[in-house]
Amino acid sequence: MANDASTVFDVVILGGGSGGYAAALRAAQLGLQVALIEKGKLGGTCLHNGCIPTKALLHAAEIADQTRESAGFGVKASFEGIDINGVHAYKDGVIGGLYKGLQGLVASRKITYVSGEGRLSSPTTVDVNGERYTGRHIVLATGSVPKSLPGLAIDGDRVISSDHALTLDRVPNSVIVLGGGVIGVEFASVWKSFGAEVTIIEALPHLAPLEDENSSKLLERAFRKRGIKFELGARFSGVEYTATGVRASLENGKQVEAELMLVAVGRGPVSQGLGYEEAGVATDRGYVLVDEYMQTNVPTISAVGDLVPTLQLAHVGFAEGILVAERLAGLKVVPIDYDGVPRVTYCSPEVASVGITEAKAKELYGAEKVVTAKFNLAGNGKSKILKTAGEIKLVQVKDGAVVGVHMVGDRMGEQVGEAQLIYNWEALPSEVAQLIHAHPTQSEALGEAHLALAGKPLHNHD
Ligand code: NAI
Repeated sequence: MANDASTVFDVVILGGGSGGYAAALRAAQLGLQVALIEKGKLGGTCLHNGCIPTKALLHAAEIADQTRESAGFGVKASFEGIDINGVHAYKDGVIGGLYKGLQGLVASRKITYVSGEGRLSSPTTVDVNGERYTGRHIVLATGSVPKSLPGLAIDGDRVISSDHALTLDRVPNSVIVLGGGVIGVEFASVWKSFGAEVTIIEALPHLAPLEDENSSKLLERAFRKRGIKFELGARFSGVEYTATGVRASLENGKQVEAELMLVAVGRGPVSQGLGYEEAGVATDRGYVLVDEYMQTNVPTISAVGDLVPTLQLAHVGFAEGILVAERLAGLKVVPIDYDGVPRVTYCSPEVASVGITEAKAKELYGAEKVVTAKFNLAGNGKSKILKTAGEIKLVQVKDGAVVGVHMVGDRMGEQVGEAQLIYNWEALPSEVAQLIHAHPTQSEALGEAHLALAGKPLHNHD
């Protein structure tokens, strides 16, 4: 039986990742007394095992590619290889700085930070380190971990998860990437730039299968050009060890050999053994179920982040955490429009989107009501300077707003902010066509796509 920690908090938050710490910071800002419980490191997956380290690896990969390709820009440089310890030191330096900043932020907001593994012991209490923390409200934010497939053991050596890949002490000669979703294509991109032979195995017909089909096809074309191999519509049937690595078998009879295999078939919620079910919290396949205000079926308990079945993105976790904090502080809150959340996959080339795909728009509005326009980056000066290829595709409801923006090309992730405003403000193509974009920037391509949709294309070939 745990001792009672003396204070009764307004909110006790279980999990200090993007969702949990955002809820804590905002709740404290609104004057609530907050306890934040974390068993690992403040910042969670995003800071320590996800967004930040992978993007540092991708940036190092970009530098490797630029060094190799420097002659094409008239610059003399020679690529001598990857110093993996140097890459890790750079990546860990980025994480370390942000981690320190975040710890300072939490301390400055007078949040009670508890380091230890918590367990829900009732609808208003969490036990940790033999102490009981009581809250008028509880927020569950215990996140997610890499999943595997039934019967597929991740040994951390030859068959690895993204957690292992982030700290791998070498550049492998060859890798099989199982799963061509976001994690799969990002690691495939890093390893290819670092010099490995890469083969992706994806069960669905396309890489990045949740994106508009046009984006997936452009990504496949770019990956093919980069020499990244992939098997699409290929279901994995098993893996065996060889003398030097692994051999993966596909249901279509093909086999692929490599030094190691990354399993990137999704991430699953962390909810087992934490007292959620005993407290009466409804779950589905481990995900905690919530309404549009992130409220579970238990009135005192809310849940946010990867633990709930919404988009598993750090910025969604932040938004859900803020929403809960504001609701608990009595502010009026508006449910999140998940279609309006920007999505960026940071492989080379980047894939960025907001809103819905052409296929989804046709389902929702009927094929005859859906209009699309494309602008090829070949017609964009800055993209030419960068030597990147790709396209911007817009999806519009006939005579109405733009409901989807889909972009492929290096640095397109940086354009998603404007795309997000266009979608979320339900802009008409004619309104965006009025906006003047700075020349020469890649943002012009977004402007040009809207000029095309508004019926007055400038640099578009017919
Ligand atoms: P995912 O769901 O994006 O992709 C998993 C892929 O594995 C799917 O395409 C699926 O069809 C495939 N797959 C499943 N079983 C298979 C089988 N038996 N054989 C072959 N292929 C199979 O999951 P992922 O990439 O592991 O990422 C997890 C989460 O992390 C995602 O929700 C993602 O949004 C998030 N994330 C976001 C990033 C970003 O925003 N840049 C970066 C990395 C992760």
